[in-house]
Amino acid sequence: MQDREVAAPAAVDPRFRADVLAGLAMRPRAIPARWFYDRKGSELFEAITRLPEYYPTRTETALLHAAMPEVARRTGPGRAVVEFGSGSSAKTPVLLSGIAPAAYVPIDISGDFLRDAAAQLQKAFPALPVHAVEADFLNPVTLPDVLADKPRLGFFPGSTIGNMEPYAAVDLLRAMRGSLGEGAQLLIGIDRVKPVDVLVPAYDDAQGVTAAFNRNLLERINRELDGTIPVEAFAHRAVWNDAMSRIEMHLEALSDLRFTVAGEAFEIGAGETIHTENSHKYGERGTRVLLRGGGWTPIGEWRDPQGWFALILAEAQPFPAAP
Ligand code: AVI
Repeated sequence: MQDREVAAPAAVDPRFRADVLAGLAMRPRAIPARWFYDRKGSELFEAITRLPEYYPTRTETALLHAAMPEVARRTGPGRAVVEFGSGSSAKTPVLLSGIAPAAYVPIDISGDFLRDAAAQLQKAFPALPVHAVEADFLNPVTLPDVLADKPRLGFFPGSTIGNMEPYAAVDLLRAMRGSLGEGAQLLIGIDRVKPVDVLVPAYDDAQGVTAAFNRNLLERINRELDGTIPVEAFAHRAVWNDAMSRIEMHLEALSDLRFTVAGEAFEIGAGETIHTENSHKYGERGTRVLLRGGGWTPIGEWRDPQGWFALILAEAQPFPAAP
């Protein structure tokens, strides 16, 4: 047999396969939103953040600029900034140049994104010690020893917390509290409840970028799991679920469909959906209860004039909290 050079297929994450097969088999059908973010999905999300209808990114970035002098005063100099996520957004440099940090520590489960983002940040801030930590921040993370004597400031922008069920959001905040320790502070962005005619277009834009982002999940399944899903036979749906205080994204079958994924057969009837994302929105009090439930006491809050988005500075509650 002749030797040939064949490109090795990219390894498929076994958790992706398991989540997709289980999610298509369950009723209602649902696939976790974390699987949106392959390379194409991450690029589409970047495009979403620039859409006229998608207010969160520009609102939070403006808030961050405006709040920075006061944030710097309240955090003080010499903190290690620990970002939950790879820190690839434009917001991280605003924070790092606005306060006088002692170190920067991005934590991300995806080593590739993490290394790229850390290298970029290091270039922009050559004198700042950068320690990237590859870890799943849903669990408590052990921080590098060199940070042992430094007070910490957690940074979790973008209202990513809204993509979690509230009970999981509380668990995450508690894990952050555990990782960052006594005396820590947390700067977090949380999206607010607002009129439905603002919320729905933010997740169903006129150019169809969010629809492409949603459908890319099906394309990813076809690419990586040898699927035969007719992607164009699914419509993007974004709906406000008032009882749950969240935007839900679904993919709705436009006709009765049959397809296979990883050799398994599935059927879906016309009008049935695959639930792909929740984006919870919080009111003023709900935000505070969420943070306090996670072990954090809000000490500062900045809002845009319309009250669409909140940037909150909180401090770690001492354990055990007094009654
Ligand atoms: C990442 N996350 C905070 C976004 C959101 O607004 O929930 C994801 C997104 N989904 C559709 N558009 C944006």
